[in-house]
Amino acid sequence: MNKHSVYETNSFYWGIKGNEFLRAIVLPHYGAFVTEEKHQLFGDVSGLKMLEVGCGNGQSLQYHGDRKAGELWGMDISEKQIEKAAQHLTTCGLSATLICSPMEEECGIPKNYFDAVYSIYAIGWTTDLEVLSARSLLI
Ligand SMILES: C[S@@+](CC[C@H](N)C(=O)[O-])C[C@H]1O[C@@H](n2cnc3c(N)ncnc32)[C@H](O)[C@@H]1O
Repeated sequence: MNKHSVYETNSFYWGIKGNEFLRAIVLPHYGAFVTEEKHQLFGDVSGLKMLEVGCGNGQSLQYHGDRKAGELWGMDISEKQIEKAAQHLTTCGLSATLICSPMEEECGIPKNYFDAVYSIYAIGWTTDLEVLSARSLLI
């Protein structure tokens, strides 16, 4: 598998398709039947430094921002999604550090820094789960 051609295809797909159609899988929804409101997987995020891997257009980051997370960071492979996330969060009066990169690559995200690193329906797109698991132990 040529991972760079997978990155290109994924980035192209998400740039065109976006994730506006995915209402059921952005926070507070984890799918059709599970919600953050009911199950409290994050609980109180106030003051926490949070990183979303594959943040798409920023709707889940917004959910945490609205609940007073201390710092919002997002990364995504699609430049278009990062642009949309920046616009969306600015419109909502939230500030975030957004990075365009494949999740498998080093991209300047600080190590041993975050209180919570999470992904909502993005890790399934990875080309290398082993590298990703090894990196996730560091961040
Ligand atoms: C289902 S959407 C995520 C929606 C987002 N979590 C939210 O709550 O709005 C999947 C996202 O994963 C991103 N993605 C796919 N492959 C990626 C990769 N290798 N590295 C980083 N992001 C990737 C896509 O660009 C897309 O925005």
